Amino acid sequence: MSLLKIARMGQPVLRRPAREVADPTAPEVAELAADMIETMLDAPGTGLAAPQVYADLRMLVYRLSPERNAGEGLAPRVLVNPQLTVLDESLEEGIEGCLSIPELVGLVPRYRRVGFRAQGLDGRPIEGEAAGFHARVLQHEMDHLDGILYLDRMPDLSSLAFLSELGRPSREEAEREEA
Ligand code: NI
Repeated sequence: MSLLKIARMGQPVLRRPAREVADPTAPEVAELAADMIETMLDAPGTGLAAPQVYADLRMLVYRLSPERNAGEGLAPRVLVNPQLTVLDESLEEGIEGCLSIPELVGLVPRYRRVGFRAQGLDGRPIEGEAAGFHARVLQHEMDHLDGILYLDRMPDLSSLAFLSELGRPSREEAEREEA
Protein backbone atom coordinates (compact mmCIF):
# COMPACT_ATOMS: atom_id res chain seq x y z
CA MET A 1 0.00 0.00 0.00
CA SER A 2 1.12 3.53 -0.52
CA LEU A 3 0.11 7.08 0.21
CA LEU A 4 -1.29 8.91 -2.78
CA LYS A 5 -0.83 12.55 -3.71
CA ILE A 6 -4.00 14.55 -3.14
CA ALA A 7 -5.12 16.83 -5.97
CA ARG A 8 -5.80 20.38 -4.84
CA MET A 9 -8.34 22.78 -6.29
CA GLY A 10 -7.13 24.01 -9.66
CA GLN A 11 -6.29 20.52 -10.92
CA PRO A 12 -8.64 19.75 -13.85
CA VAL A 13 -9.27 16.19 -12.56
CA LEU A 14 -11.38 17.71 -9.75
CA ARG A 15 -13.67 19.41 -12.22
CA ARG A 16 -14.44 16.56 -14.61
CA PRO A 17 -17.18 13.96 -14.21
CA ALA A 18 -15.43 10.67 -13.42
CA ARG A 19 -15.84 7.44 -15.42
CA GLU A 20 -17.77 4.38 -14.28
CA VAL A 21 -15.63 1.57 -12.92
CA ALA A 22 -16.05 -1.23 -15.48
CA ASP A 23 -15.05 -4.08 -13.16
CA PRO A 24 -15.18 -3.39 -9.41
CA THR A 25 -13.50 -6.77 -8.77
CA ALA A 26 -10.38 -5.93 -10.79
CA PRO A 27 -7.19 -6.16 -8.69
CA GLU A 28 -6.16 -2.61 -9.60
CA VAL A 29 -9.46 -1.31 -8.22
CA ALA A 30 -8.83 -3.10 -4.91
CA GLU A 31 -5.31 -1.70 -4.83
CA LEU A 32 -6.54 1.84 -5.48
CA ALA A 33 -9.19 1.46 -2.75
CA ALA A 34 -6.60 0.29 -0.23
CA ASP A 35 -4.32 3.20 -1.10
CA MET A 36 -7.22 5.65 -0.86
CA ILE A 37 -8.11 4.35 2.61
CA GLU A 38 -4.50 4.65 3.74
CA THR A 39 -4.33 8.19 2.31
CA MET A 40 -7.63 9.18 3.97
CA LEU A 41 -6.50 7.87 7.37
CA ASP A 42 -3.12 9.54 7.05
CA ALA A 43 -4.51 12.97 6.06
CA PRO A 44 -6.56 12.51 8.29
CA GLY A 45 -9.90 12.84 6.57
CA THR A 46 -13.44 11.50 6.79
CA GLY A 47 -13.77 10.66 3.12
CA LEU A 48 -11.88 10.64 -0.15
CA ALA A 49 -13.09 10.34 -3.73
CA ALA A 50 -10.95 8.86 -6.53
CA PRO A 51 -10.62 12.13 -8.51
CA GLN A 52 -8.97 13.62 -5.41
CA VAL A 53 -6.06 11.22 -5.99
CA TYR A 54 -5.96 11.83 -9.75
CA ALA A 55 -7.94 8.68 -10.56
CA ASP A 56 -10.70 9.29 -13.07
CA LEU A 57 -13.07 6.71 -11.59
CA ARG A 58 -16.42 6.68 -9.81
CA MET A 59 -15.38 5.33 -6.44
CA LEU A 60 -14.97 6.72 -2.95
CA VAL A 61 -13.96 5.74 0.56
CA TYR A 62 -15.21 7.12 3.86
CA ARG A 63 -15.47 6.34 7.54
CA LEU A 64 -17.49 7.59 10.48
CA SER A 65 -16.38 8.05 14.04
CA PRO A 66 -18.85 6.95 16.74
CA GLU A 67 -19.46 10.52 17.91
CA ARG A 68 -20.48 11.54 14.39
CA ASN A 69 -22.85 8.67 13.77
CA ALA A 70 -25.16 8.28 16.75
CA GLY A 71 -22.63 6.28 18.75
CA GLU A 72 -21.91 3.77 16.03
CA GLY A 73 -18.64 4.12 14.17
CA LEU A 74 -18.22 2.91 10.63
CA ALA A 75 -14.92 1.35 9.60
CA PRO A 76 -13.56 2.55 6.25
CA ARG A 77 -16.00 1.61 3.50
CA VAL A 78 -15.49 1.53 -0.26
CA LEU A 79 -18.33 2.44 -2.63
CA VAL A 80 -17.85 1.76 -6.34
CA ASN A 81 -20.14 3.41 -8.90
CA PRO A 82 -22.31 4.93 -6.13
CA GLN A 83 -25.67 6.54 -6.74
CA LEU A 84 -27.64 8.79 -4.44
CA THR A 85 -31.36 9.31 -3.99
CA VAL A 86 -32.82 12.08 -1.89
CA LEU A 87 -35.19 10.72 0.77
CA ASP A 88 -35.93 13.99 2.51
CA GLU A 89 -35.90 17.25 0.58
CA SER A 90 -35.22 19.31 3.68
CA LEU A 91 -31.77 20.82 4.00
CA GLU A 92 -29.46 21.14 6.96
CA GLU A 93 -26.43 23.42 7.19
CA GLY A 94 -23.15 22.05 8.47
CA ILE A 95 -19.46 22.82 8.40
CA GLU A 96 -17.43 21.15 5.66
CA GLY A 97 -13.84 21.09 4.67
CA CYS A 98 -12.14 19.27 1.83
CA LEU A 99 -8.71 17.68 1.54
CA SER A 100 -8.48 19.26 -1.92
CA ILE A 101 -9.11 22.73 -0.47
CA PRO A 102 -6.75 22.78 2.51
CA GLU A 103 -7.21 25.04 5.52
CA LEU A 104 -10.64 26.35 4.54
CA VAL A 105 -14.06 25.43 5.89
CA GLY A 106 -17.55 26.71 5.19
CA LEU A 107 -21.23 26.16 5.87
CA VAL A 108 -22.91 23.96 3.28
CA PRO A 109 -26.59 22.98 3.06
CA ARG A 110 -27.13 19.26 2.43
CA TYR A 111 -30.14 16.95 2.32
CA ARG A 112 -30.88 15.44 5.71
CA ARG A 113 -31.60 11.96 4.48
CA VAL A 114 -30.42 10.08 1.40
CA GLY A 115 -30.42 6.58 0.04
CA PHE A 116 -27.37 5.12 -1.65
CA ARG A 117 -26.63 2.19 -3.93
CA ALA A 118 -23.20 1.11 -5.03
CA GLN A 119 -21.05 -1.92 -5.71
CA GLY A 120 -18.48 -3.30 -3.31
CA LEU A 121 -15.05 -4.56 -4.28
CA ASP A 122 -16.59 -8.03 -4.55
CA GLY A 123 -18.99 -6.70 -7.19
CA ARG A 124 -22.00 -7.18 -4.98
CA PRO A 125 -24.54 -4.44 -4.39
CA ILE A 126 -24.34 -2.23 -1.31
CA GLU A 127 -27.49 -0.35 -0.39
CA GLY A 128 -28.44 1.78 2.52
CA GLU A 129 -29.88 4.93 3.96
CA ALA A 130 -27.98 7.70 5.62
CA ALA A 131 -29.00 10.70 7.69
CA GLY A 132 -27.28 13.72 9.19
CA PHE A 133 -23.49 13.68 9.05
CA HIS A 134 -23.40 10.34 7.22
CA ALA A 135 -25.68 11.77 4.53
CA ARG A 136 -23.49 14.89 4.35
CA VAL A 137 -20.30 12.88 3.79
CA LEU A 138 -21.93 10.86 1.01
CA GLN A 139 -23.21 13.98 -0.73
CA HIS A 140 -19.80 15.66 -0.48
CA GLU A 141 -17.94 12.63 -1.85
CA MET A 142 -20.41 11.86 -4.62
CA ASP A 143 -20.22 15.50 -5.73
CA HIS A 144 -16.49 14.92 -6.30
CA LEU A 145 -17.42 12.23 -8.85
CA ASP A 146 -19.29 14.88 -10.83
CA GLY A 147 -16.60 17.54 -10.63
CA ILE A 148 -18.43 19.53 -7.93
CA LEU A 149 -16.70 21.02 -4.89
CA TYR A 150 -18.41 22.08 -1.66
CA LEU A 151 -17.72 25.73 -2.48
CA ASP A 152 -20.14 25.36 -5.41
CA ARG A 153 -22.85 24.39 -2.92
CA MET A 154 -22.39 27.37 -0.62
CA PRO A 155 -25.21 29.89 -1.03
CA ASP A 156 -23.31 32.41 1.09
CA LEU A 157 -19.53 32.61 0.94
CA SER A 158 -19.36 34.81 4.03
CA SER A 159 -19.09 31.70 6.23
CA LEU A 160 -15.93 30.61 4.41
CA ALA A 161 -13.09 30.70 6.93
CA PHE A 162 -9.60 29.52 7.64
CA LEU A 163 -9.86 26.64 10.06
CA SER A 164 -7.09 28.18 12.16
CA GLU A 165 -9.15 31.35 12.69
CA LEU A 166 -12.27 29.66 14.05
CA GLY A 167 -13.10 29.63 17.75
CA ARG A 168 -12.33 26.40 19.57
CA PRO A 169 -15.66 24.49 19.48
CA SER A 170 -16.21 25.29 15.80
CA ARG A 171 -12.65 24.38 15.01
CA GLU A 172 -12.93 21.00 16.67
CA GLU A 173 -16.14 20.30 14.81
CA ALA A 174 -14.63 21.39 11.50
CA GLU A 175 -11.47 19.35 11.94
CA ARG A 176 -13.45 16.16 11.89
CA GLU A 177 -15.15 16.99 8.63
CA GLU A 178 -12.47 17.26 6.00
CA ALA A 179 -13.40 15.10 3.11
NI1 NI B 1 -13.75 16.92 -0.60
